[in-house]
Amino acid sequence: MKLNLIVAMASNMGIGFKGTIPWRLKKDMALFAKLTKWTKDNSKRNVVIMGRRTWESIPERNRPLPNRLNVVLSESQQQIDNTLTCKSLESALQLLQDPLYLNQIENIWIIGGASVYKEAMNHQSCHRIYVTHVLEDFECDVFMPAIDQGKFRLVSDPMVPQDADEENGIAFEVKVYEKV
Ligand SMILES: NC(=O)c1ccc[n+]([C@@H]2O[C@H](COP(=O)([O-])OP(=O)(O)OC[C@H]3O[C@@H](n4cnc5c(N)ncnc54)[C@H](OP(=O)(O)O)[C@@H]3O)[C@@H](O)[C@H]2O)c1
Repeated sequence: MKLNLIVAMASNMGIGFKGTIPWRLKKDMALFAKLTKWTKDNSKRNVVIMGRRTWESIPERNRPLPNRLNVVLSESQQQIDNTLTCKSLESALQLLQDPLYLNQIENIWIIGGASVYKEAMNHQSCHRIYVTHVLEDFECDVFMPAIDQGKFRLVSDPMVPQDADEENGIAFEVKVYEKV
């Protein structure tokens, strides 16, 4: 099964600061929800895979992310409530091959953080990276690993707006990178 990554990053490649996202873009959050929930087959749902700190960054009232199977990677914790908790990305992907899951899931979305993005973008099953480019610098303590321009090319996706947009004075545009 192919992996899609989805991330919002600042011009300085920052994605997080003090356990949260340093900007608030409702339109981008809506796009995140739309893309990660969308399935061709209504009887199936998608998987979101994230690191433990990304899970903790989601307000308790909003987690698990609804209508998606929430998989959390953690070596330090056995089981996080309302999630499938796995000790590695590979073991998570292995588990999802089990017919119990395989028959009811459609897409796998990698939703961060930094090391999970890095491992996933170098994974043989990596397909696309959906990047919201926030067009200014933000103070951050977590950064997106570089996307190798030799390994990915820009493509378009009809579900993604083509044009740059703006919210609360913050400009942003969404680009889709596909593994060559
Ligand atoms: N802008 C965006 O699109 C975006 C997206 C996601 C997150 N964020 C931000 O990024 C920050 C969180 O990201 P982060 O990079 O600091 O942390 P993270 O990747 O979410 O979580 C790190 C933790 O996840 C576990 N983990 C990661 N990879 C693993 C693997 N391969 N196998 C097993 N466990 C693994 C480990 O947990 P244990 O320590 O429990 O072993 C590790 O300490 C927050 O500020 C969040 O708001 C931003």
